Amino acid sequence: MPSTVIVGTQWGDEGKGKVTDFLAERADVVVRYQGGNNAGHTVVVGEEEFRLRLVPSGILYPEKLCLLGNGMVIDPEALVTEMEELEARGVSTANLRISDRAHLILPYHKRLDELEEMGRGKGKIGTTGRGIGPAYNDKSARIGIRTADLLDPAEFHEKLKANVELKNHYLKQVFGVEGFSAAAIEERVLALAEKFKDRITDTSVVLHDALRAGKNILFEGAQGTFLDLDHGTYPFVTSSHPTAGGACIGSGVGPTAITKVIGVVKAYTTRVGSGPFPTELRDSIGDRLRERGHEFGTVTGRPRRCGWLDAVMLRYAARVSGLTGIAITKLDVLDGLDTVKICTGYRIKGEVTEYFPASLKAVESAEPVYEELPGWSESIGAATRLEDLPANTRRYLDRIAELIGVPIILVSVGQRRNQTLVLEDLF
Ligand code: GDP
Ligand code: IMO
Ligand code: MG
Repeated sequence: MPSTVIVGTQWGDEGKGKVTDFLAERADVVVRYQGGNNAGHTVVVGEEEFRLRLVPSGILYPEKLCLLGNGMVIDPEALVTEMEELEARGVSTANLRISDRAHLILPYHKRLDELEEMGRGKGKIGTTGRGIGPAYNDKSARIGIRTADLLDPAEFHEKLKANVELKNHYLKQVFGVEGFSAAAIEERVLALAEKFKDRITDTSVVLHDALRAGKNILFEGAQGTFLDLDHGTYPFVTSSHPTAGGACIGSGVGPTAITKVIGVVKAYTTRVGSGPFPTELRDSIGDRLRERGHEFGTVTGRPRRCGWLDAVMLRYAARVSGLTGIAITKLDVLDGLDTVKICTGYRIKGEVTEYFPASLKAVESAEPVYEELPGWSESIGAATRLEDLPANTRRYLDRIAELIGVPIILVSVGQRRNQTLVLEDLF
């Protein structure tokens, strides 16, 4: 009964949705454990493209149980919209369950996200504007409102009233803007909750029962290692823990329940939002990766910054999440390049290091040390087995596995389910 965590190893958008959907075929339960609708996970099934935000990528299989874990922050507006959009496209959400301990994103969180970003000026994080940071702030300040509170309207009323008073004071004093009406928020949110309150439950118990029954569990990470609040490029990070440890805290299982950790590695690197990016390419190769890889944000439509693969980052990701295997995605985007480069170290103040520094100044000044490998001219999108890939493509893959010290278990060469090469069976 394997239970597998799927984590992003870079700055998000590695293709976690595609990998989760592919592996979900043989799983029983798929769990999101952190983040909220800052995530945008694209899954292509046949001719249809789904962009999932809150709902786990297992939802496209009607019989899989899909859980929104306690570590998530949930915007009721976004949840209802997503459920309705899925239902309208014929995807049942009957098997969706929502943790009673997940925190709510309310209208004032979104407003604060926007105003606080503006206040940061040049130091702006480039958040998705979905209220993620302010909602997690309230959680750690111990004033947050949880989904369980929606089941007790009197409790919800009291907590909301206290929060709105506090936020209105802050909005007025610090930003000089009008506040919110608690009554209006209460009415709207309780109306929305009617559409999902029957799904609110203790998902840790659901998960525990599934584990005891020998079911296969997939934990679907959102964001990525370098957006992790502790392990990422702080402060240019999100406010949750996308790394594998986050799966335990964010879903209510112990570390002993996890058997495998798969790191999703895009065959090059991208980043959306601000912050240092040592291998960023501000040239025609970067533009080519953006165009061929359709590197524009799923959530905000922003162009993603693109660069070469960075093995310094990947080794770090392997260490902090204890990766047991890696899934390489978007390898086809590199088709037709004369050479491909992998960063193997950073030169900082004349010294080469293989470790990702904590200091952002050091990361900003890092000059990547590259290894250059021959590219391939063939289109690899039709490959179904490793042997179908050109020798130079395989050489690139071998070198990645060698540099990270973790075996490759899966290779993706296109958006579709059948554009996936399985190197090692997971289940
Ligand atoms: P996630 O946030 O990690 O789930 O990734 P996103 O969905 O935001 O971005 C990945 C994008 O690449 C999506 O549009 C996927 O459909 C697409 N994609 C995933 N795997 C591949 C692949 O192997 N090749 C190509 N060309 N596209 C891929
Ligand atoms: P998926 O799950 C890429 C980035 C934002 C910003 C920073 C903080 O699709 O990989 P936030 O709104 O979370 O406070 O923004 O994190 N970010 C992502 N970048 N993929 C994501 O999710 C992201 N979710 C947040 O761009 O730099
Ligand atoms: Mg994404």
